[in-house]
Amino acid sequence: MCGIVGIAGTQEVAPVILEALKRLEYRGYDSAGIATLVDGRIERRRSPGKLSRLDAVLRDEPLPGRTGIGHTRWATHGAPTVINAHPHANARVAIVHNGIIENFRDLRSELLAKGHKFESETDSEVAVHLISDYLDQGLAPEDAAQEAVRRLTGAYSLAMIFRGEESLLIGARKGSPLAVGYGEHEAYLGSDAFALAPFTNRVAYLEDGDVAIVRGNQVSIFDAKGRPANREVVITNASSALVDKAGHRHFMAKEIHEQPEVIGHTLAHYLDAAGPNVALDNDKLSKVLASATRLTISACGTAYYAGLVGKYWFEKLARLPVEIDFASELRYRDPVYPEGGAALFISQSGETADTLAALRDAKANGQTTLALVNVVESSIAREADIVLPIFAGPEIGVASTKAFTCQLAALAALAIAAGRGRGKLSAEDEKRLCTALLEIPRHIVEFLKSEAKIEALGQEVAKARDVLYLGRGPSFPLALEGALKLKEISYVHAEGYAAGEMKHGPIALIDENVPVIVMAPHDGFFEKTVSNMQEVMARGGKVLLISERAGLDRAGTDAWAKIEVPDADAFIAPILYAIPAQLLAYYAAIAKGSDVDQPRNLAKSVTVE
Ligand code: F6R
Repeated sequence: MCGIVGIAGTQEVAPVILEALKRLEYRGYDSAGIATLVDGRIERRRSPGKLSRLDAVLRDEPLPGRTGIGHTRWATHGAPTVINAHPHANARVAIVHNGIIENFRDLRSELLAKGHKFESETDSEVAVHLISDYLDQGLAPEDAAQEAVRRLTGAYSLAMIFRGEESLLIGARKGSPLAVGYGEHEAYLGSDAFALAPFTNRVAYLEDGDVAIVRGNQVSIFDAKGRPANREVVITNASSALVDKAGHRHFMAKEIHEQPEVIGHTLAHYLDAAGPNVALDNDKLSKVLASATRLTISACGTAYYAGLVGKYWFEKLARLPVEIDFASELRYRDPVYPEGGAALFISQSGETADTLAALRDAKANGQTTLALVNVVESSIAREADIVLPIFAGPEIGVASTKAFTCQLAALAALAIAAGRGRGKLSAEDEKRLCTALLEIPRHIVEFLKSEAKIEALGQEVAKARDVLYLGRGPSFPLALEGALKLKEISYVHAEGYAAGEMKHGPIALIDENVPVIVMAPHDGFFEKTVSNMQEVMARGGKVLLISERAGLDRAGTDAWAKIEVPDADAFIAPILYAIPAQLLAYYAAIAKGSDVDQPRNLAKSVTVE
């Protein structure tokens, strides 16, 4: 995670690097820094905390120089202090790093023994000393950089500048993303095309093992074996406009409110409203959905919970067997991949390191890989056999909201397509389910009218120390997602459980101080969920029941509080029930005074394992 920018420029670069770093702050905001060449010498400014603090440092102590590198950090090794902030440097070289250098302890011992002096606790600093060591042996910067990166294990993207080497910028990539931007008179390095968008839309993505040597606007790329490599220069669609909050207090609020519109975009891509029916514009995809022997789904966090809902849908509507794993677990359990299997990877950013590694594992094991992503120029999208875009638009708030519901909308359409393709779903059922999907935007608009009530409930939930979320069937993943949303932005401890599991242990936690949020769509699981809710209430539990009017009338009498969800086909309940879960978390976080869009310890894109 960590964002990287480098510029071999023709004018002062520190202010421009700072602007580019603002576009990368979603990757981490523990500390930030910039290094430039000033009369051939390396100078740097660093600060703990968000970029606004680095901005203040630069205002006090401006940093001249036309060649420079910048970094925004999500800490892995070493606390977020100035000393641990990037760029790391000695007199000869400065580097910024994203990833984890796994053999840093061995390298550090080796370099300490040779007399190198380390100042930080980071893994990254070994790169500085390793490169310097090769420079000491008389190697030119280009060769020193290539020799050094060959010795690193783990994942990295690196950008480097060298004393006395005006206009020289070197980048290297293995595991973590790095792109080269081609300008008119300048060239750039950046973690993604979005960071480079204000400078250029001509971008080449480095491949694993590549080293890019940038001299002014001349770029040479070498592969892992040191051979010259051609990497296609593509024209990106990444917008250079900075996304604003459109009058909302937080990006998260804006993104919650955008859901009717963006889910409409997702549905417009996967459905034909005239039928209504599913309309996939990709024959290969239709074939895979119709004939895959099994679907392996893998993702992290919120995207994983979307996949869990997908499992219910694919199995029920298409009788397509689904295995689902956290991406961080999948390849480590040495899974059995079936012949003719397909594997679906879900990721808003398309850069999550665990999900990317899981995709590579599935691909290496003969699975057809599908990527359900928001960022279509991401690493996961580029490496998958089939890309499934969700059209949620830029999601800036760290807590995923609109990407989740757009992922669900796409998964619902794909499950219907699989059901039709496998002969398990009639045209009539397809029409009914698609009609239900097309009504989602209208239902969400309707539901958002009750926001003030949820604000008040969020304030109550914020007073709790622990909160439980319960759901059954496709609402179980929603309970998990509701709990994740609450804990990540309000820091209130929350857990999601399958409602029927309560009696096997967690019910011991129930007392009058623990709000229990029950997601109970008025569907085939309703009566069973209500029984589990009664078991909670019988033990003094404080229940917040979320259901439709009929469900609240039937079971809400003794509930502490109720939220009414619009009456709709139970098929779309996971999407509609996400909205109260998001709003409860949002208002609880505001009541707690936490930083809603950039909660502590988190980053939007997790590019380390
Ligand atoms: C939670 C959240 C995270 C992400 C997870 C995967 O609100 O946003 O749990 O869902 O880090 O990220 P992507 O979808 O970018 O792979």
